[in-house]
Amino acid sequence: MATLHVLFACILALLICSAAAAESYNKKNQVPAVFVFGDSLVDTGNNNYVHTIAKGNFPPYGRDFAGGRATGRFSNAKGVADYIAQVLGVKQLLPPYLDPSLDLQELLTGVCFASAGSGYDPRTPQKMNAIPMMTQLNMFKEYIKRINASVGPERTQEIISQSAYIIFMGSNDLTNTYPTVDYRYTEESYTDLMISLALDFHKANVQKLYEAGARRIGLVELPPTGCAPAIRSSQGGPRRECSESLNRRIRLFNSKLSLMVDQMNQELPGTKAVKFELYNHFVSLAENPAPYGIEEVKRGCCGTGNIESGVLCVVPGTCAAADKYLFFDSFHPTELAARILTYQTLSPPDLSKLF
Ligand SMILES: *[C@@H]1O[C@H](CO)[C@@H](O)[C@H](O)[C@H]1NC(C)=O
Repeated sequence: MATLHVLFACILALLICSAAAAESYNKKNQVPAVFVFGDSLVDTGNNNYVHTIAKGNFPPYGRDFAGGRATGRFSNAKGVADYIAQVLGVKQLLPPYLDPSLDLQELLTGVCFASAGSGYDPRTPQKMNAIPMMTQLNMFKEYIKRINASVGPERTQEIISQSAYIIFMGSNDLTNTYPTVDYRYTEESYTDLMISLALDFHKANVQKLYEAGARRIGLVELPPTGCAPAIRSSQGGPRRECSESLNRRIRLFNSKLSLMVDQMNQELPGTKAVKFELYNHFVSLAENPAPYGIEEVKRGCCGTGNIESGVLCVVPGTCAAADKYLFFDSFHPTELAARILTYQTLSPPDLSKLF
């Protein structure tokens, strides 16, 4: 037990050290703002303002957030997007762009455009009426107009060119959409389609604002969703094993992300694109969670932990201590897991490639 405590203290110290390293990094490099695009793994509450059932703005979501408030994050408290802003030394919480109460200071340090249920494939957001990828980009363009009107072209240019753009998208395409269209695609051709849609997105984003100069774009690898509690329950057989076929598709997409990043760096002068590796960090945490105090990696904290997410999480029976779990619902990590994984994924050596 004593050994465990020491280990835990060291890990906390490491997290604090890397946070400090990132902050001093930022002072040097001046990241004025962070923008995150993606799906429920990074939505901080945009779907609260959208007509969709993919919401997380009711208990038990947010039960460990300040004031026990359900914010729309699919977590017991903070989520991956917040830790991205924190690792980059910008702020502690990344607000959803659609929140009408955001003040100018919040806008100038970055917002989240992600929407639960979204994907690269336009068929993916349709299922849930989530905000499609290109609409997230149009929201960003609208954002630019708003700040340009408030702080003027010079400061706006600086924000566009110096900020970090983090994209974490594709899990819903591979998990939900691919199985419904697999008579038309192979895993190879479907992941190619996703990459070409992703490339269109980045080109549209960069070219529109090309005059503004350098762009720092981080693409986060997809996690092994084949090991999410809901997938274990639905596809993992009596022993609730990981879906190897889903994890194989995810690894195929992740490997193609590397090629796309190379292509972006060649074809979009002034752009610095970096792939951030998450998959193996996730696997390691699931295989060896004890040093972090995590005890349960196969069931979520809400409900029975086997299948519940979103509205199904209102069922009684949510766990006592979310910090003992890797997953808060049957798809999304707890705040603790989000923090550990974001700090590992955006580690200082990888982050430095953005600068
Ligand atoms: C900001 O507004 C000015 C006009 O006031 C315009 O010339 C400029 O192109 C705008 N900048 C951006 C990035 O939209």
